[in-house]
Amino acid sequence: MNRAPLIFLGIFFTLAFSWTGIILTNQLTYGKLEPIVDQTENKSYPEALPGLAAQGKLVYQDLGCIYCHSQQVRRPGFGADDKRGWGDRQSVARDYIREGRVLLGTMRTGPDLRNIGARQASRDWHMLHLYDPQITSKGSIMAPFPFLFETHKIVGQPSPKAIKLPAPYTAVPGYEVVPTPRAEALVAYLQSLKDSYAYPETRNVFVEPASAGKMEDKQ
Ligand code: HEC
Repeated sequence: MNRAPLIFLGIFFTLAFSWTGIILTNQLTYGKLEPIVDQTENKSYPEALPGLAAQGKLVYQDLGCIYCHSQQVRRPGFGADDKRGWGDRQSVARDYIREGRVLLGTMRTGPDLRNIGARQASRDWHMLHLYDPQITSKGSIMAPFPFLFETHKIVGQPSPKAIKLPAPYTAVPGYEVVPTPRAEALVAYLQSLKDSYAYPETRNVFVEPASAGKMEDKQ
């Protein structure tokens, strides 16, 4: 008996069902999400990445930060992301609509970085941390990225971009440590990572500050 048509139909329907479930349903649910224009601020959210930060995203991908860091804050009650201070609210699909490549990540060897720009806003902090995480975070197990920096002989005025290393990391007298353009771009990207805008769909999933009194649980 020729079973070829049956096998063909079986394969066809399996693929068709998975395609409908995984691709089509998601496209119909999330594909039409638009940025929200905030009339009071005269801005639209999520904001596009500034040029330097967009370059920094490529450095982030290139250096494999994604293998240890996720960029998705889970909802309160599902994990402890809110208690760890990784975000004021959970991440929602609209947060990512401007991103051509979404770097959600699959592993959390290190903390979630979706709001690192809010948690650590300072360029200097990020530079020192990348140069050697031990400087800012004693006991950190993250690897240093010293190749993102160059040691230059100071000629005339010291560079305003040079990083201020504490002892014992200080450069030899007469020399300074300057971030490469890749480091500048990467740090601009890290500083840009913050999702705090309250989209309509996030308004009932905000983490209430402890002082806000008893709120009705809307979840
Ligand atoms: C091999 C895993 C690994 C890789 C790769 C890695 N990190 Fe980390 N990172 C960690 C760990 C672990 C921590 C937390 C360390 C601690 O303080 O105990 C961390 C901490 C951080 C923090 C501080 C987070 C906070 O909440 O204070 C930042 C920022 C960061 N990493 C950025 C980066 C960037 C940018 C890259 C890529 C250039 C990168 N990491 C690559 C493991 C990694």
